[in-house]
Amino acid sequence: DLALELTCLILEREEGFAVIRLNRPAALNALNSTMMDELSAVIPALDADPAVHAIILTGSDKAFAAGADIKEMASKTFAEAVSEDFITRNWEAVTRCRTPVIAAVAGYALGGGCELAMMCDIILAADTARFSQPEITLGIPPGAGGTQRLPRAVGKAKAMEMILTARMIGAEEAERAGLVSRVVPADKLIEEAKAVAAKLAALPPVAVQLAKELVNAAYETPLAQGIKQERRTFHAAFATEDQKEGMTAFTEKRKPAFLGK
Ligand code: HXC
Repeated sequence: DLALELTCLILEREEGFAVIRLNRPAALNALNSTMMDELSAVIPALDADPAVHAIILTGSDKAFAAGADIKEMASKTFAEAVSEDFITRNWEAVTRCRTPVIAAVAGYALGGGCELAMMCDIILAADTARFSQPEITLGIPPGAGGTQRLPRAVGKAKAMEMILTARMIGAEEAERAGLVSRVVPADKLIEEAKAVAAKLAALPPVAVQLAKELVNAAYETPLAQGIKQERRTFHAAFATEDQKEGMTAFTEKRKPAFLGK
C-alpha cells in the first residue's frame, strides 16, 4: 500500500499496530536524508490507516540511532542548510503523528537519535540503552529539538551538562531522570513494546487520541489554559459511544467492546 520502496527502514504490520525498524546497520543507523524521507512518508501513511492504533519505532540491538549522518552533513554550507530547510523538511513527521508512537531504544541513541526518540510519546529503554547529545564535539548545538525537549524531560541541570559536555547517560540514569518510561532487559525490549502497542490497540481510540493531545498541550500552554482545554475535552468525551460502552461494561462486570466512535 506504500508506493515507496524502503531502503533504510523495515516496516512490519501486526494486528492493531505497526513496527518501523531503522535499518542502516553498517552506520549504526545514522539518520541520513533517505532514511528521514522514508520516515516522513511512512509515518503519515500509518497515521492515516484506521487499523493502526500504535507505532513502534526501533533500531538494532547496538543502536537505536547514532545521530544524524555526519558524513552526509560534514560539507554542508550555511546557505545549503537554509535553502534545503535542513532538517525541518523531513525530521518532524513523528511530531505531527496523532497515533501514539513508542520508541523502543537499545544501544546508542545519540544526537539526532536521542532527539528522534524524544519526539515519540513513550520511550522504552533496554538496559543497554545509552543517551547523549554529542553535537557540541562536532562544533554544532543540537538541531532536532534537543535543547528544548531534553530540559523539559530531565530538567535544566542535567540537560545543560549533557548538552554542553556531551556526557552520555545509561538506561538507569535516563529512567531516574524521567527521560524514559521504564527500563527492560534487552532481550525483552521488542516484546514489551509490542505489549504496550497491543494494549493501546485494545483501548478506545478516540479517548487515546484526545489524551495524547492533552498531554502534548501541557508542553505548549500555560497551566490555566491547559486545564481549561482538558476540562472541555473531558466533557466532550461523554459524547462518544465508547464512553458509554466503557462505563456500562464496568457496571455490568463485562469486557467492553469499543467501536472507535
Ligand atoms: C555517520 C556514523 C555515525 C554518524 C557511526 N557511524 N555514527 N556515520 N554518522 N552519526 C559509522 C561510523 O563512521 C562507522 O562507519 C560505523 O558507523 C560504526 O561506527 P564506529 O565508530 O566504528 O563504532 P564504535 O567504535 O562502536 O563507536 C560507536 C559510536 C561512534 C560511539 C556511536 O560511532 C560515534 O561516536 N558516532 C558518532 C556519534 C555522534 O556524534 N552523533 C551525533 C551526530 S550529530 P565505518 O564506515 O567507519 O565503518 C547529530 C546532529 C543532530 O546527530 C541534529 C539534527 C540533524
